[in-house]
Amino acid sequence: MNILVTGGAGYIGSHTCLELLQAGYQVTVVDNLVNSKQESLRRVQEITGKPLVFHPVDLLDREALDAVFVANPIDAVIHFAALKAPGESVSQPLRYYHNNVTGTIVLCQVMAQHGVKNLVFSSSATVYGETNQPPLIEDMPLSAINPYGWSKVMMERVFTDLHVADPAWNAILLRYFNPIGAHPSGRLGEDPNGIPINLVPYIAQVAVGKLPYLRVFGNDYPTPDGTCIRDYIHVVDLAIGHLKALEKLASNPGAIAYNLGTGRGNSVLEVVAAFERACGKPIPYQVVARRPGDLPISYASPSKANRELNWFAQRSMDDMCADVWRWQSGNPNGYE
Ligand code: NAD
Ligand code: WQD
Repeated sequence: MNILVTGGAGYIGSHTCLELLQAGYQVTVVDNLVNSKQESLRRVQEITGKPLVFHPVDLLDREALDAVFVANPIDAVIHFAALKAPGESVSQPLRYYHNNVTGTIVLCQVMAQHGVKNLVFSSSATVYGETNQPPLIEDMPLSAINPYGWSKVMMERVFTDLHVADPAWNAILLRYFNPIGAHPSGRLGEDPNGIPINLVPYIAQVAVGKLPYLRVFGNDYPTPDGTCIRDYIHVVDLAIGHLKALEKLASNPGAIAYNLGTGRGNSVLEVVAAFERACGKPIPYQVVARRPGDLPISYASPSKANRELNWFAQRSMDDMCADVWRWQSGNPNGYE
C-alpha cells in the first residue's frame, strides 16, 4: 500500500513515516517545509534503510498536488499538514483558515478526482474547548478558543459531511492530546523554529543550556501542586496510532473520532521533575503569571481507541523525557 503523508517532514509526520516504512508500507510525502526540514526525511530513510518519495509541494497548489497523484498510485492519505501555533492563529486567522481549511478542501478534491477516499486526519484535543470536564470523551460537544482550534473543528465537520454525501469516504479523526518524546534512536525529534512555545521543547532547551530557565505559567490552579495538568503522549505511541487507524479504514467506518492520549495527567512540575531525572541536572524555573487560554486540567479517555483500534499508549513519562533528552543533547540545534 502506498500512503500519501501530508506534512510528513514535520514532528509527528516524520515519526509516522518511519513506522509506516518499518511496517512495510510505501510512503509518499508532500510538505512545503514551512515548519520543517527535509533532513528529517533523510534520517527516516537512514534509520529504516528504506526509501520514500518526497515532493516539496504546498497543499494549496492544486496542480502540483494533482501531479503527485498522477505520478504515484495512492491508496490512502495521512493528513498532518497544518499550521499549529494557537497564539499565532489569533493574530493571523485568515492565514490559518486558508492554510488549514482550504488546504484540506483542495486535498479532498484532488483525492476524489483520483478515487482516493480513505484518510487519517490530525485533529486535536483542542476541539473539546474549555467547558467539557476531563476525562474527555469523543461524543462531547466540540468548540474552540482560537482560530487554530476552530480550523480543526471545521475540518472534522468537512469529513463528517463528506461521508454523508458519499458513503465511500472514510476519515479517522485522531484527537491528539500533548505529543512529546522523540524516536529512541536519538536521530528524530521535535525541532521548533525559534523559541519553543510548548513545555517540553522549552525544558529541553533549558537543559541543554540554550535558554536560562523555564517560566512556569501559574501555580494557583485548582490542582494538587497548583500547576496545569496535561495528558502527555509519546510521539512513537502516537505514530503507531496512525497505523492502527489505517487498518480501521479498511472496514469502511465513515467519519469517526478517536482520542490518542494515555488517560493520565501530569502537572507542569511533575514534567520538570521527570526531565530532571532524565538529564541528571536541575531545571531552573520561575513561576510567572498564568498564560491566557490555558485550561487547568486536560486528559483523555482513550477507551474508544483501546477498544476499536486496539491501540494502547505504552511509553511512560520517564521514557518520553529520556528520549527527548537523547534527541536534544545529541542535536542541540535540531536538524541544522
Ligand atoms: P509540524 O509543524 O512539525 O508538522 C506539520 C507539517 O506540515 C510541517 O512539516 C509543515 O511544513 C507542513 N505544512 C504546513 N502547511 C502546509 C501546506 N499548506 N502544504 C504542505 N505542507 C504544509 O507539526 P506537528 O506537531 O507534526 O503536527 C502535525 C499535525 O498534528 C498538525 O495538523 C497539528 O495541527 C496536529 N497536532 C499537533 C499537536 C502538537 O502538539 N504537536 C497536537 C495536536 C494536533
Ligand atoms: C503545557 C503546559 C502551560 C510552556 C498546546 C496547544 C494545543 C495542542 C498541544 C495542537 C501548560 C505550561 C508551557 C512554558 C509552561 N496543539 N507551560 N511554560 O497548551 O496544553 O497545548 O499543544 O493541537 O492546541 O494549545 O501545551 O506544551 O504549550 O503547555 O508553564 O514555557 O505547560 O501553561 O500548562 P498546551 P503546552
